[in-house]
Amino acid sequence: MNLKIAVLSGDGIGPEVTLQAKKALHAIGVVYNHEFVFEDAYIGAIAIEKTGKPLPEQTLNLCRNTDSILFGAIGDPKVRPEQGLLQLRKELGLFANIRPIKAYPKLMNSSPIKKEVLQGTDFVVYRELNGGMYFGEKTSNEEGTYASDLCEYNEDEIVKISHLAFKAAQTRRKKVTLVDKANVLETSRLWRKVVTNIAAEYPEVTLECLYVDNASMQIIVNPRQFDILLTDNLFGDILSDEASVISGSIGLMSSASLGEQHSLFEPIHGCYTEAKGKNIANPIASILSV
Ligand code: IPM
Ligand code: MG
Repeated sequence: MNLKIAVLSGDGIGPEVTLQAKKALHAIGVVYNHEFVFEDAYIGAIAIEKTGKPLPEQTLNLCRNTDSILFGAIGDPKVRPEQGLLQLRKELGLFANIRPIKAYPKLMNSSPIKKEVLQGTDFVVYRELNGGMYFGEKTSNEEGTYASDLCEYNEDEIVKISHLAFKAAQTRRKKVTLVDKANVLETSRLWRKVVTNIAAEYPEVTLECLYVDNASMQIIVNPRQFDILLTDNLFGDILSDEASVISGSIGLMSSASLGEQHSLFEPIHGCYTEAKGKNIANPIASILSV
């Protein structure tokens, strides 16, 4: 294999952990005879500093023309560069964010959850990444006393990620749990309707629906019950951080963001600016992502 990989190491500990991941990938290349060519580009606060934009044109063009993207971390409370990552996900059509959650035997003592509860936990979060409240219209008034974020979904967006989730379940324990808030939200009722229809195409997979408030409790009380957890953008963001507690450390959580033409791999942790340059950041999540 000969692959060109865009490396967007970003802010905070991003560059440190990404460097280790590049070394791991290089070592794999040497052993298995693949060539990985890395090309660096700016994103995030560092990109704002260098070019005035969190996602410069040059970075986006590089990402459009590579085989894959390795992403580090993004964030800086002073300039709020997160928009750069959201724009990248949208521009490249990265609609599915996949986050594996596992209880690692060696790390069970690091988790605040009891070992008996954790043992054997192995599920994967399928988070929709291009829609929902993240991308709906945002408004605020001039006085700064009112703000709104619109949550929108259309059928096609739900269909695309749901098929991936059901296909994954077919190769695993054959269960999909849809997490929503269908007792309150119209978008959640749409999710339930669409996902229930899709489930009929996968008769060997069981579909279960859980309200997000209940799901957030179940993840801690009985995490073994989950196989594939399918959910929208905002709920997926929140629940995947919560679920990372199961692995003993958010520093171990990898993720893949997939679209029809592009793919991006990144640790789920943030930029942890306080740790930057101290050589204490755990690079495992980035290594697992590559
Ligand atoms: C994540 C992060 C991002 C998100 C931030 C950095 C915008 O928390 O990938 O989970 O909210 O999606
Ligand atoms: Mg998050």
